[in-house]
Amino acid sequence: MSLAALADGDLLAELRALLAGEPDPIANAANISAMIFDRLPRLNWVGFYFLRGDVLVLGPFQGQPACTRIKLGQGVCGAAAERNETILVPDVHAFEGHIVCDSASLSEIVVPFSVAGQFSGVLDVDSPVPNRFGVAEQTLLEAVTALYVEACEANTTTD
Ligand code: SME
Repeated sequence: MSLAALADGDLLAELRALLAGEPDPIANAANISAMIFDRLPRLNWVGFYFLRGDVLVLGPFQGQPACTRIKLGQGVCGAAAERNETILVPDVHAFEGHIVCDSASLSEIVVPFSVAGQFSGVLDVDSPVPNRFGVAEQTLLEAVTALYVEACEANTTTD
């Protein structure tokens, strides 16, 4: 196993411990954003957008203040939401419709998630470095959203 894989395993284990026993979706989104921002190098923004009606609305995040509402289909977040699949953007300037929140961002990954089978939001991670995100980061961040969803679903199934 590579050092990178071990580090990812450590991060997932730490996140699992952080979320254990806490079903509140906002508290967990806040701690996930903080931990990813703190532990993964070369990031300038990490945060959540939640589906509210037919719009994505800004949730807990780390980084510069960001746009509060993104329509489905708009920007990388809206595209990932509409397609319901992870989008990796090696060069944000080459992504038509990319929404600039922090001009320092050069590459981006957006991971959508569903709670109880319903699309619920996205995890958005930006980097000031081009081509920062690859398969390893996609795998890691999809595992992170899976942990988040697990915690949310524990909340919805608790009597
Ligand atoms: N760049 C995103 C907007 C959100 S910010 O990066 C925080 C997009 O194009 O959807």
